[in-house]
Amino acid sequence: MLRELTHFFRHAPATLRLKRTLPQAELYDHVCGAGDDAGLAAWRAQLVGDLAGDILEVGAGTGLMFRHYGAAARVTALEPDAAFAALAAPRAAAATAVHIDIIAGTAEALPGPSRSRDGAVVGLVLCSVADPAAALAELARVLRPGAPLRLVEHVRSPRLVAGTLMRATNPLWRALNGQGCNMHRDPLPAIRDAGFTIDRTEPFQIFAPGIPAFPMRAIWARAAG
Ligand SMILES: C[S@@+](CC[C@H](N)C(=O)[O-])C[C@H]1O[C@@H](n2cnc3c(N)ncnc32)[C@H](O)[C@@H]1O
Repeated sequence: MLRELTHFFRHAPATLRLKRTLPQAELYDHVCGAGDDAGLAAWRAQLVGDLAGDILEVGAGTGLMFRHYGAAARVTALEPDAAFAALAAPRAAAATAVHIDIIAGTAEALPGPSRSRDGAVVGLVLCSVADPAAALAELARVLRPGAPLRLVEHVRSPRLVAGTLMRATNPLWRALNGQGCNMHRDPLPAIRDAGFTIDRTEPFQIFAPGIPAFPMRAIWARAAG
């Protein structure tokens, strides 16, 4: 925990300075891009590179996932924030191996009929949706039986002291990040409660300038049926 706290206090002042000069979407793109360079991109590639068919990405942000899809995927990328979507657009155009449509929408009301999608992707989104159970229920609705759901999320530490500290300081973190991001959630029980089978989870951590070194999980799940 000492390493995580040292990392946070070392980088927080520069990030707060950047926050005063960059709009939220650009700040996110900058710091998360550093996270990608520090190892997150490799997890993204593992999670989505094998997906095929009609794939729904929820909360696509600035499109940092796009370059990792393979040619067998056709991606509908849902993003509610126009400023994030504007940064994602050139990345969608640059991902020539795969067709990507960006549309406005939220996790709680997904587009398309029930059992219509061949797969879904959720990257660093369940931390900030107002109702993760509602979002997961929608994902369970739109996915075909047995279809893959791939997630990468930061989670509350399973360690007692670190987990308690994360719960206690979550209101301060929410005020600082300005994106509605919570650091005290554990999405795994909610994913199971929504009827998904979790086939694999991989814990990892990213130490990159500008982002806290939260415990992370790459998650391979599939819809019931
Ligand atoms: C931390 S960013 C992650 C962006 C991207 N998925 C990535 O992996 O870099 C969270 C994104 O979720 C979006 N978001 C927040 N609430 C949402 C909701 N209820 N439904 C869909 N997207 C949401 C935000 O607009 C933002 O683009």
